[in-house]
Amino acid sequence: MACAFWLSTSLDSRNSIIALTTATRNIRNVFFGQSCLAYVGELNRLGYINVLIRHFFTPATNTPLKANIVLLPGDGIGPEIIAQAQRVLETVAKSFGHQFEFNSHMIGGISIDTCGDPLPQETIDACRDSDAILLGAVGGPKWDDPSAKTRPEVGLLKIRKELGLFANLRPIRLFDELLDASPLRRDIIEGTDILFLRELTGGIYFGESGTSGSGQAESAYQSMVYSVGEVERIIRLAAKAAQGRGNRLTSVDKANVLEPSRWWRRVAARVMQEEFPDVQYDVVLVDAMAMHLINRPSDFDVVVTGNMFGDILTDEASMLPGSLGMLPSASLGSDGPGLYEPIHGSAPDIAGQEIANPLATILASAMLLRHSLGLEAEATAIESAVQRVLSDGLRTRDIARGGEAIGTESMGSAVVERLTV
Ligand code: IPM
Ligand code: MG
Repeated sequence: MACAFWLSTSLDSRNSIIALTTATRNIRNVFFGQSCLAYVGELNRLGYINVLIRHFFTPATNTPLKANIVLLPGDGIGPEIIAQAQRVLETVAKSFGHQFEFNSHMIGGISIDTCGDPLPQETIDACRDSDAILLGAVGGPKWDDPSAKTRPEVGLLKIRKELGLFANLRPIRLFDELLDASPLRRDIIEGTDILFLRELTGGIYFGESGTSGSGQAESAYQSMVYSVGEVERIIRLAAKAAQGRGNRLTSVDKANVLEPSRWWRRVAARVMQEEFPDVQYDVVLVDAMAMHLINRPSDFDVVVTGNMFGDILTDEASMLPGSLGMLPSASLGSDGPGLYEPIHGSAPDIAGQEIANPLATILASAMLLRHSLGLEAEATAIESAVQRVLSDGLRTRDIARGGEAIGTESMGSAVVERLTV
């Protein structure tokens, strides 16, 4: 059971960090007998181990590590924020004795401009061969023409699908120093700590689509489809994550209207009843959830939902901490590299001005170290450096509330400095 507990906690990116690192080593040392292998087999049957196995077999944090990290800067502010995250990762590599090799590849609008394809095969191949991927952002008004042959977002959806990144983890975490930057009252948001798990490779985003008819009868459609397997694997991950945190899971759907939601609800209820009877589980309709997030966000622990509802709710939830510029996300599959990115978009209105907040991408690089490379102490070091930057009063414009603001590169330097002292 210790093994299972540890595996589940590895999804929680905050509280269990130190215990986790120690547990990792202990489990590696103690459990490598038959009983552990049998247990691993059981977890594998249930579908957990694939996503989490990388944590189990990754080297302890004091072992020097070589890693090949693909950078996908993309569009808008993407290149500026990725440059700062790369500096931070380079600093970590140096201080902890690791060797990180960085290779940049194209995705999104810049890639359409260069080769007509938002995700060239060369980028897919490089990502497949990598240990982890750090992405900036894609899109911008330049490529918004609805009648264009392709769009930057196609590149992002395709890389998620190609790499089987079905689980998108979006932790909504508050920074005490920024509480007053939230559009909500302090007493409403205080205590909020939500981990969203958004299903990322199914649902309406990938359903059959097309147009038919002509004139007034011409219409467009896109289907929402979920299979048993797709629902089971994301529910299991979410339930495991809940076990490692507050032991509460909320599944969000639109079962009062949509057939695939009723289906999702049935499959989820069975998985929870049969495999996670200990987890406090409830279901909420997506429209009500939109309301609860504003009214009582601190009531939620882990929230799991489908692709489109997850897209919308996580943008809403990302406003709770005061700025989109602070929130990282991780997209994980059953094997292969994970993809890490800020939750925010390409912010074309401020691109090239060196005023964007690089902290979400820097925090995404911490998630990369933790989830894909098993470098817990290094991830924590980055998170603590970011925390110190904020307590020292340094702010980019988006979180300065009209006060003094520093630029993108200065913010990167501030994190680097606090990593090296
Ligand atoms: C996100 C984004 C993407 C999505 C877009 C850019 C395709 O909004 O990652 O949330 O809708 O998934
Ligand atoms: Mg979105």
